[in-house]
Amino acid sequence: MAVQTENKRVVLGITGSIAAYKAPEIARLLTGRGYEVRVVMTEAAQEFVTPLTMQTVTGNPVMTSFWDDSPEEIGHIAWADWADTVVVAPASADFIAKANAGFADSPLLALILATKAPVLVAPAMNVNMLQHTTTQDNMAGLKERGVRFVEPEEGELACGWQGAGRMAAPWEIFYHTMRIISEGDFVGKKILIGTGPTREPIDPVRFLSNRSSGKMGVALAREAFRRGADVTVVHGPVRVRVPRAIQTVGVTTAQEMHEAMLSLAYPEEGQGPDVVIMTAAVSDYKPKVPAETKLKKSEAMTSIEVVPNPDILSDLGSRRSESNSPCLVGFAVETGELEDLLTEAAGKLERKNADMIVGNFAEEAFELDTNRVWLVDKHGRRDEVATSFKSRVAQKILSRVLKL
Ligand code: C5P
Repeated sequence: MAVQTENKRVVLGITGSIAAYKAPEIARLLTGRGYEVRVVMTEAAQEFVTPLTMQTVTGNPVMTSFWDDSPEEIGHIAWADWADTVVVAPASADFIAKANAGFADSPLLALILATKAPVLVAPAMNVNMLQHTTTQDNMAGLKERGVRFVEPEEGELACGWQGAGRMAAPWEIFYHTMRIISEGDFVGKKILIGTGPTREPIDPVRFLSNRSSGKMGVALAREAFRRGADVTVVHGPVRVRVPRAIQTVGVTTAQEMHEAMLSLAYPEEGQGPDVVIMTAAVSDYKPKVPAETKLKKSEAMTSIEVVPNPDILSDLGSRRSESNSPCLVGFAVETGELEDLLTEAAGKLERKNADMIVGNFAEEAFELDTNRVWLVDKHGRRDEVATSFKSRVAQKILSRVLKL
């Protein structure tokens, strides 16, 4: 299956911080996407990772000095013009201070001044250095002038301190870079996604649930983020690895998911989402009365009395009004024939008052990294998206959402 590639150009700046050991990984993720990457390193950066490493990973020469230019080309200016985006990771306190003050005494600083491309900065430093008013002012100054940041993480720092200051993970920096580079057709749009299974307790250790992994919803969330959306994910008990700039709300039962989705879709104050996608595999039923203590084998339970759960998508749909209604997308999963799947999807479109239902087969969807789907929309279109990675399927679903 083909991996997506994009023909874009990234300058990766590396400054002096122990987090520089993660820079080759960032470069690898960017080149894996098809981006061409050129690296500029400060002198201090070269104490942590060698230019040869970066040259080998990117397949391009690495800029370390002003004085290697040829008579025909002034390196830092040519690279500043060449870049579609500039990413500085890790960015030390020293670099941030100098960049804010407009210093140009290294090729990287000069390039930052010269470029018209968007700049993304991933700070990495000791917690006290980060929280120092001077650093905070310098970061605010850069932000005011349009520089974007991937905030550092909390955790154990190389200096022995605990706190904020760890550079964001390479994959997260990669996602922010893609977000800057993308066409951004979801910029300014809010999207709410429900994903994963729900768990309905039988007793304190047992529950009713299903095989949903939440991967389709995560793929949609990442793709919407990449395209510039403001994203919120409500998820059942699955691991949801998304950039921290995506808001996540973890829930367990269908009732909890119902409350979270409805209150986020129709907030009492402020603007609700433009798009709501319900890809969660919600348990249709729950045990009527969950036992308070663990049921013993000797209690020989042979049947569980169940009652229906609320239908979240239906309730989201029935609250839609002409003026203030988010675009609503649901999923339909079947195990039978295609004809039945399409009939079911069309039926759900009506019953749940949705704009589109994405139909898929359980054996092709649950737990897998790939999926094959049919997009059944309110305009009567029924289009197949052939088996592909869920990231690709998410791309197609979101492109269709824009046309609804
Ligand atoms: O009715 P059915 O469960 O087949 O509909 C599937 C769609 O409805 C999915 O989008 C699913 O997330 C949603 N759903 C829901 N609440 C339920 C059951 C399903 O929102 N209780």
